[in-house]
Formats: sequence, C-alpha cells, structure tokens
Amino acid sequence: MKIAIGNDHAAPELKLAVKAHLEEKGIEVVDMGCAPGEKCDYPDAAAAVCRKVTGGECTLGILICGTGLGMSYAANKIKGIRAACCSEVFSARLSREHNDANVLCFGARVIGEGTALDLVDAFISTPFSGDERHQRRIDKITALENEG
Ligand code: RB5
Repeated sequence: MKIAIGNDHAAPELKLAVKAHLEEKGIEVVDMGCAPGEKCDYPDAAAAVCRKVTGGECTLGILICGTGLGMSYAANKIKGIRAACCSEVFSARLSREHNDANVLCFGARVIGEGTALDLVDAFISTPFSGDERHQRRIDKITALENEG
C-alpha cells in the first residue's frame, strides 16, 4: 500500500506525525503537503494528493487542514474521488466499508494526534464490503459526477 498525504499550513505537525505512523508500519508515503513554517492553500494540496490516487500511483489519500472541510470540498470536486471528512473512528471505518472512500480528511484544529492516528488506522485497514447495495449507491454518486 502506498499513501499520498497532504496538508496546508494549519497542519504540518500532525501531517508529520501521521506520516511517521504510517512509515513505522512499513507503508510508503508520498508527501504532497507543506512543511512547518511554509504557507500553502488547501485546494492545491488536495489536488496534488487526489491526482496521485486517481492516477493509480497511490492506493489512498489523506488530507489535513484546520477543519478537514476545505480539503474535503476540494477533493470531492475531482472525478473519481470520494473524500470523507471524519472526526471519529466509526465514520472513518464506514466510509470505507459502505462508501469505498479513497481519501480521508480531518482537521488539526478539531482532533488531537491520538484520534487522528486511530482514524488513519481504521481507514487503511477497512476494505470496501463489496455489497451490491453499497455498490449501487456508489454508482449513483458516479452518475451524478458524470452529469456535471
Ligand atoms: C486555513 O487557515 C484554514 O482555513 C484551512 O486550514 C481549513 O480549515 C479550511 O477548511
């Protein structure tokens, strides 16, 4: 598994903690975010991470800004991306199991490091159920995306 990660200036420290956590598990991380002390706009980081996912280089993406909201709005504009903005583990798990989400977003000003790492663990370890009813609903999301 290879994960793309991105952040804006609200979240460089939490990004580094998540990155270290993933690398400790032997997961390769592609860092598209900004470093501590730098300023960057969340749509740019969201686009960079999502392109890694839609292009097939990375399996999943993680995006962190102040609230997770701006990142999720930007990410969900990109064709093929289903980004889940979460602040608790149940939603992070269900975003994979039911919605086959491919990007996890959260806010460094909303949750602490412990919760962030729990969200990441739930997200990366939960497979899509493959259930026909969930797939049907995801296909309807894709149809809306294709309608424009
Ligand atoms: C940046 O100050 C902040 O607006 C951003 O990190 C994010 O919370 C936007 O949704």
